[in-house]
Amino acid sequence: MAIVVTTPTGHVGSRVVRLLLQAGVRPRVLARDPGRLDGATRERVDARRGDLTDAAFVREAVAGARTVFWVDPTPHSAEHPIETSQRTASALIEAARAGDVARVVLLSSVGAERRQGVGHIDALGWIEEQLDATGADTLHLRCGYFFTNLLLDLDGLARGELTTSVSPGMPMPWVDPRDIGDIVAARLLNDAWSGRVVQAVHGPEDLTFEQVTEILTEALGRPVRLKSVGDDDVRAALRSAGLAPGAVEGIVGMTAGSRDVVPEQPRDVVTTTPTTLASWAYAHLRPALLESIGS
Ligand SMILES: NC(=O)c1ccc[n+]([C@@H]2O[C@H](COP(=O)([O-])OP(=O)(O)OC[C@H]3O[C@@H](n4cnc5c(N)ncnc54)[C@H](OP(=O)(O)O)[C@@H]3O)[C@@H](O)[C@H]2O)c1
Repeated sequence: MAIVVTTPTGHVGSRVVRLLLQAGVRPRVLARDPGRLDGATRERVDARRGDLTDAAFVREAVAGARTVFWVDPTPHSAEHPIETSQRTASALIEAARAGDVARVVLLSSVGAERRQGVGHIDALGWIEEQLDATGADTLHLRCGYFFTNLLLDLDGLARGELTTSVSPGMPMPWVDPRDIGDIVAARLLNDAWSGRVVQAVHGPEDLTFEQVTEILTEALGRPVRLKSVGDDDVRAALRSAGLAPGAVEGIVGMTAGSRDVVPEQPRDVVTTTPTTLASWAYAHLRPALLESIGS
């Protein structure tokens, strides 16, 4: 019985695949373009080429799987992000309901416990509930804010600005997606859990954007200042980038709806992961930034 990994080329999925290979497992990976996997990995996996938005592909590709690692692939820029995430997950939910899939590990998010009012994260709450109702064993990994989100505004960082609509002094969990991959792989390989499990992944410490700015200044070796903006500024910027109204509200809602979220799972030894923002920024953000500014 196979272990199925979705988004094997993503930040989390690529780490999961590597650990499964190192554990002696040949995972079945679902990829739009298996050619994007490095050659050595491609030889060691059972790659199925297809799009996760194609329900027939997903039904066939997950059939008979012991465990599926599901990552919602819907970009925040989708015209109707919540509906698209729901529709995309439906084939997996159907397969779990039909008994074709025994266990699902879902990459979820802090805030999904709210179920509504957190923008695109609402979709993850819906997927959690639907999977729970299938009777399959489910593990929802409610993850904090990915370090890799910082890679999305290299132009801003090149100008020395870290722009956010998150309240500057609000502590929140920041996490390296690679560390999430470690936990996913450990859970995929552990047959001892069953039922409905929720586990948070909170990174090494809660950080405010003010603290993040200081850490980046040090790690990047260049001054970074915080540029706080309001929700309407974000709306205007996204609209002028051509995003549809549904996408704009899906993105704004994630921040607006999370302002007073206290994660349902408290930080503890199980939720805390090792990689610090300082070490990640030095190893990954700094070279990416230098490359983007051509030096
Ligand atoms: N960012 C955060 O702070 C945060 C926090 C909590 C949870 N999350 C969740 O984390 C997930 C993103 O994980 P990540 O950062 O590891 O991903 P990522 O690095 O952004 O990569 C996206 C992956 O999705 C694949 N993909 C995109 N559209 C697809 C499609 N239609 N069919 C098949 N594959 C598709 C891409 O494959 P290709 O090689 O084909 O492009 C790629 O492997 C999202 O579900 C998000 O909700 C994020």
